[in-house]
Amino acid sequence: MSEETLSNLLREERRFPPPPELAAHANVTAAAYEEAAADPEAFWAAAAHRLDWARPWTQVRDWSGAPFARWFTGGRLNVADNCVDRHVRAGLGDRVAFHWEGEPGDTRTLTYADLKDQVCRAANALLSLGVQAGDRVALYMPMIPETVVAMLACARIGAPHTVVFGGFSADALRGRILDCDARVVVTADGGYRKGAPSALKPAVDEALEGCPDVRSVLVVRRTGQDVGWTEGRDVWWHDLVDAQDPAHEAEAFDSEHPLYIMYTSGTTARPKGILHTTGGYLTQAAWTHWAVFDVKPDQDVYWTAADIGWVTGHSYIVYGPLANGVTSVLYEGTPDTPHQGRWWEIVEKYNVTTLYCAPTAIRTFMKWGDTIPGQYDLTSLRLLGSVGEPINPEAWMWYRHAIGGDRCPVVDTWWQTETGAQMISPLPGVSTCKPGSALRPLPGIAAEVVDDTGRPVPNGSGGYLVLTQPWPGMLRTIWGDEQRYIDTYWSRFPGWYFAGDGAKKDEDGDIWLLGRVDDVMNVSGHRISTTEVESALVSHPLVAEAAVVGATDATTGQGIVAFVILRAEGEKAAEEAGGDDVARQLRAHVSKEIGPIARPRQILVVAELPKTRSGKIMRRLLRDIAEHRDLGDVTTLTDSTVMDTIRERLPGGS
Ligand code: WT7
Repeated sequence: MSEETLSNLLREERRFPPPPELAAHANVTAAAYEEAAADPEAFWAAAAHRLDWARPWTQVRDWSGAPFARWFTGGRLNVADNCVDRHVRAGLGDRVAFHWEGEPGDTRTLTYADLKDQVCRAANALLSLGVQAGDRVALYMPMIPETVVAMLACARIGAPHTVVFGGFSADALRGRILDCDARVVVTADGGYRKGAPSALKPAVDEALEGCPDVRSVLVVRRTGQDVGWTEGRDVWWHDLVDAQDPAHEAEAFDSEHPLYIMYTSGTTARPKGILHTTGGYLTQAAWTHWAVFDVKPDQDVYWTAADIGWVTGHSYIVYGPLANGVTSVLYEGTPDTPHQGRWWEIVEKYNVTTLYCAPTAIRTFMKWGDTIPGQYDLTSLRLLGSVGEPINPEAWMWYRHAIGGDRCPVVDTWWQTETGAQMISPLPGVSTCKPGSALRPLPGIAAEVVDDTGRPVPNGSGGYLVLTQPWPGMLRTIWGDEQRYIDTYWSRFPGWYFAGDGAKKDEDGDIWLLGRVDDVMNVSGHRISTTEVESALVSHPLVAEAAVVGATDATTGQGIVAFVILRAEGEKAAEEAGGDDVARQLRAHVSKEIGPIARPRQILVVAELPKTRSGKIMRRLLRDIAEHRDLGDVTTLTDSTVMDTIRERLPGGS
């Protein structure tokens, strides 16, 4: 890591202490850090006591089989009971669990009592299809209440679910069904996206051509689209589930009983099935949601604007918020349907207090301009969260200002599919936030930044992020591949979990995430973060979004190639002065912001960037383009035509 690279982000000097009012009533105070450091097991035991256990655990943490962890050994609980029935028993049955907003504008309100009724019916329906504890159930669903109901119904009967994001292809779905040997699939005819019905059932039919062991497909009618039907296999949700008994006795499962498998891409083509279990996962999802979002279940309206098909949706739409008995918003569609103010309209309509979304979304809104959120009353908001990728200081500042009215703390939360729940994040009532920094590990979590040899780096330096102690929500293994689990996470730095991210510690010891280590470039022996160059580019007034890759360079090892999307003013400037002039300005700007070493070799102005369906920029593809290589698998792209558009803009491109 070059000194210049580090010093650029470290030059960020804006500081935002917690609002006094929030700090005065915060769920968690600074004492939590000390308590957790003094006795992490006692700390997590206290967090677990926020849940209802049918049988107490005998051991908080069992690391004797490292790197295979067990938490709350011997304890038994039911996740659905904790997320739903428990609140109804406490007299909160009338509290809204979800304000659901369909993309076309139809709405549904589900109270905790409604949810209990539906989850029990769905659990009985799954049982009637022969699903037993331990059997895997695949879900391929739009963002509708039945998705939450189906997940909780699986949890209720101890059948691990694997939710496959509805944007994935039939092939991807088939691969996942086969990998975990699911025998039942829950889906819908389709869902609404970008103003039109978007079919799901045809992809299931296609996927199942290669899955002879799937015996039942439960289909929710959402859009009313025509669907193909396989008699004896397919059954309508409204026929089967609605006819069930709304009573179901929930059985308590072992704390280490599998709760779900979530597939995530690694460095190889085959996705990894990340396994999460019951007690530790729910404990950490619930505690972090309560602490990091400072939730007041009787006052807040909480909204994670992510898809349930990703881990963010699992932990912070379903399990965390429901375990805490919170009222949430669930939105089906896209942010610009039917207009670019849709999110802000929803915030205004439901008086949303807490919004959690990805930097990609924030930068998109930035591109659309302040006047759009400015048309709505966003004063209900009191807390904002960010997740999924490094947030550059300019996007952080825009979020705080244009959305948060300079009033709301912004918590940048670092975690992964594998960690199950948030790991490094400010606490809104305690931390003084720095734009672009996730600050420090949450209480009960231990992280370090280490060099190549595994030695912790001093403050002011960068390296690899590792987690040095097991944590309750950690993945237990990769489904069906223990060796890959060991190799991927525990071999690079023996005894420590290797996250795959680069990070640096500033002079205060606070952590700044720099992106995946495979996204860190090496130019003339200097390591430069793609994130940092992107951040510099985005801080230029003409730029809306940027993606930077290191392309092989005969002289310098790697050369920096930047793909940028211009703001409207930028496009005008480019038209007037010619694209070359804009590229020249931007290179000078990066040079000024970071140093000449970071000046991009090439800047390509593009209309769109290739992103995975979870919104991550696919730098690998951009690198291939920059190096004129053939493209590999593009099935996880939101829109594979984006690549053609980009190629056309490349000098010498086809
Ligand atoms: C990777 C994990 C966390 C749920 C959604 C993504 C990146 C995530 C941050 C953040 C910088 C972040 C990391 C991580 N990432 N959050 N706040 N700051 N980077 O889950 O698909 O498993 O991706 O996302 O690179 O390793 P995921």
